[in-house]
Formats: sequence, C-alpha cells, structure tokens
Amino acid sequence: MAVEQADAIIRVRDVTVRFGATEVLDKLDLDVKRGEILGFVGPSGAGKSVLTRTIIGLVPKVSGQIEVFGVDLDAANAKERRAVERRWGILFQQGALFSSLTVAQNIQFPVREYLKLSQRLLDEITIAKLGMVGLAPEVADRFPSELSGGMIKRVALARALALDPELVFLDEPTSGLDPIGAGDFDELVRTLQRTLGLTVFMVTHDLDSLHTACDRIAVLGDGKIIAAGTMAEMKASQHPWLRSYFHGKRARAVVGSNTGVV
Ligand SMILES: Nc1ncnc2c1ncn2[C@@H]1O[C@H](COP(=O)(O)OP(=O)(O)OP(=O)(O)O)[C@@H](O)[C@H]1O
Ligand SMILES: [Mg+2]
Repeated sequence: MAVEQADAIIRVRDVTVRFGATEVLDKLDLDVKRGEILGFVGPSGAGKSVLTRTIIGLVPKVSGQIEVFGVDLDAANAKERRAVERRWGILFQQGALFSSLTVAQNIQFPVREYLKLSQRLLDEITIAKLGMVGLAPEVADRFPSELSGGMIKRVALARALALDPELVFLDEPTSGLDPIGAGDFDELVRTLQRTLGLTVFMVTHDLDSLHTACDRIAVLGDGKIIAAGTMAEMKASQHPWLRSYFHGKRARAVVGSNTGVV
C-alpha cells in the first residue's frame, strides 16, 4: 500500500477505459488535491461520469492506476477497499435516490451498510444530515416522488454525507435546478467543504458553479485532461473548446450576472 500523499487525495495515472471498440478514456492522468473543490467539465459524452465511476471502481479500466487516500484500489484486499469506500460519499448523476425508500431510509442506507447502529441513532443522524443540507426534519418521512428537484439533490447530498466522508463525488449536482436553487446548492457545498474540510470532485456543466464554488477546474476532451488549473488559467487558454466554453455567449452571461452587469 502506498504512503498517503498530503497533496493528492485522488491520483489517476495512465487510465484507459473502453466499451467495445470505443475508447472513452485514453491514458488519462489527474490529481485531486486534499481540501479542494475540483470542477470537472467537458463536452457531453466525453466521459466525465465514466471517469467518476472508474475512480470508485464501478467501471473496469483496461490499464492504468488509481489511488484514493494513497491506496491502490486494484492492489487492495476486500477489507482495505471497504475501509476506503467508507471514507467517500457519492451523489450520482442518474437515480440520485432510491424511489421506493423514504428520505430517512435513503440517508440511512449507506450507514447501515457500514455500521451497526440502533434505530434511534440512525434517526438522529438522519435529522442532523437533513439539517446540514438545509432541510426540515419533517422531510424524513417523505418519498422522493413527493420532493422538488432541488430537494432531491439536497437529500442526495445528505446521503452522500451520511458517513461523514472526507471526499465526495458530485456528478452534476445542480443540473435541473433554477439558477437561484443552483446558486444556493453551490454555496452549501462551499460551506460544507470549509466547515467539514471536505475534498469535492464535482462534475458540472454549470459555469456559475465553476466561478463561485470551484478552486480548480479540470477539462476532459478526447479521453484526456486537456487543461487543469484555476478559472483565470482556463480563461487564458487558447484551446478552441476552452475558448468557446469560457468566452462564449453563456460564459459572458455568467460573468455579466456575477458583476451585476446585465
Ligand atoms: N456502461 C456503458 N457501456 C457502454 N458505453 C458506455 C457506458 N457508460 C458510458 N458509456 C459511453 O461512454 C461515453 C461517455 O459517457 P459519460 O456518461 O461518461 O459522459 P459524460 O461526460 O458524463 O456526459 P454528460 O455530460 O452528458 O453526463 C458515452 O459515449 C457513453 O455512451
Ligand atoms: Mg455524465
């Protein structure tokens, strides 16, 4: 097992992923640093969700190494893997919640998987996590179909936080939310990252999120990381996709609204 590196909480090296003849990731390298919110962007279908799922071990890779918390997950035995999985939380792009379970059951799901706790304690954790994401305790007994889209994202975040993780993966957490709801969600993620010392790997198409919530941005294109750095560095890039993404019509609208210019 490798020594845990202070700077990189996720270390992806030379990772290739294929589905049949289609190569989605091509010898990709990426570091996610401890304590940062990394915004992960790229065209739709580029492989952002695939990389996320590869890091957490749900998609097999053809080659390459991935270390999380300094542990090579391929070399780890079942017990070591479980210990790593216990330290991260995930908000999936699709199916953020189990539709047949209540909010409380959804939040308690990962806790039950790893810990043996009394129902009273599980209920206390549920209320605490709901509070953390700005939801009232009454929401606990509702089913996902009885929640708004924004509430579903918040409950999914509460579930991702259920085990007090050090690292969270958020795949498009603000998609489908109105700009104010998305802004509130970004602020919530920022606050949680600061107060809990979280590291956040956030896939997003939301330029506002990139501006306000992310410390660093990594851009995926043609199976590789084509750029990684601060927003200022992204804006200074001459790469055609980055130029149209960060300087296009939508980008100007975001920058305009951030500065109060309409
Ligand atoms: N299980 C799978 N089997 C076959 N192909 C897959 C599988 N999962 C993803 N793909 C393909 O891999 C490519 C990347 O998909 P992915 O979902 O990672 O895109 P994305 O960058 O997350 O896009 P979006 O921004 O739309 O969410 C797509 O061409 C997709 O069809
Ligand atoms: Mg995706």
